[in-house]
Amino acid sequence: MKKPGRNDACWCGSGKKYKKCHIDFDEKIEEFEAKGHVIPTHSIIKTKEQIEKIKESAKINIAVLDYVADNIREGISTAEIDRWVYDITTKMGGIPAPLNYEGFPKSVCTSLNNEVCHGIPSEDIILKDGDIINVDVSTNLNGFFSDSSRMFCIGNVSEDKKRLVEVAKQALQEGLKAVKPWGFLGDMGHAVNEYVKSNGYSVVREVGGHGIGLEFHEDPWVSYVTEPETEMLMVPGICFTIEPMINMGGAAIFTDEENGWTIYTKDGLPSAQWEIQVLVTEDGYEIIAY
Ligand code: MF3
Ligand code: CO
Repeated sequence: MKKPGRNDACWCGSGKKYKKCHIDFDEKIEEFEAKGHVIPTHSIIKTKEQIEKIKESAKINIAVLDYVADNIREGISTAEIDRWVYDITTKMGGIPAPLNYEGFPKSVCTSLNNEVCHGIPSEDIILKDGDIINVDVSTNLNGFFSDSSRMFCIGNVSEDKKRLVEVAKQALQEGLKAVKPWGFLGDMGHAVNEYVKSNGYSVVREVGGHGIGLEFHEDPWVSYVTEPETEMLMVPGICFTIEPMINMGGAAIFTDEENGWTIYTKDGLPSAQWEIQVLVTEDGYEIIAY
C-alpha cells in the first residue's frame, strides 16, 4: 500500500493531513493484509465527491428501470425496450454504458427465460405470455457509472418460474445481510449461494458482479461461489454490484457462437437475475442503484 507522509495531504482528497484522516484506516487494512487477506487499493475506495456523482448516475439508472417496469408488456419487442433505455438515458444527460462496450451493439441487455445474461435486444424478439425477462441497465453520467437490473414477468407466468424469480430477488437480501465494513466479499457470496442451494437452484459460477463507479467494470470481481472470510475485505467506500444469476437446473452455461454475447443455460431451463449496486459505509451499506 502506497501511503503519504504523516503531515502530507491524505490520499482521499479531504484536504486534511494524512495523520488526521485515513492513517488509522490504512493501518487497519494492513493488519488484514498481514493475515493474508485480499485488500482493496486506494483507487477503488470512493471519495465523498465521487459517491455523489455515482449517485447522480444511479438516478438515471433507476428512472430507466422504473419506466421499463411501468411499460413492459406482452407483444412488444426487446428492441422497443432498447429504444426506451436509449431515449430516457440520453434525455437525462447520460450515455447507456453497454452501447459499444467491447462491441456490444445495443443500449441494454434483455435476457429471456433460458438466457442467463447479455441478451441482445432485437425487433424479432417479441415478449409472450409466460415469459420471464431480465432487463439490465447501466449508465455513464459524466464518467461515473451505475448498473442494476430487474426481472419482469409477462402475463401468466408458471408457478415454478415465478418462484425462481422470487428466490433470485431474495438472494440479494441474503447477501446484503453479510455486507458490512471489515467483513469479506466471500461472506456475501456464501450467503447467496447457501440460500439458492437450499431452494434447489444453482448459481452461475463463471459470470458475476464487479466493482463499479469510475469505470463500468472495476476490481473486485464478485463471485457467489465463495467461502466465508475469503475474497476482498469490504471497507467503507468500496462500491460493487450483487448480481447472481440463478438457474432452475444446473449451473452450466454456454455462450452464443453467432453473436459472441448471449449466455444460455446448458440444460435449457430458465435462469433469473436481479442486480443492485451497493456502497459499503461506516456502519453497513447503502443501495446506490436497484
Ligand atoms: N450490465 C452488465 C453487467 O452487469 C453488463 C454487461 S456488458 C454489456 O456487468 F456490454 F453487455 F453491457
Ligand atoms: Co453488472
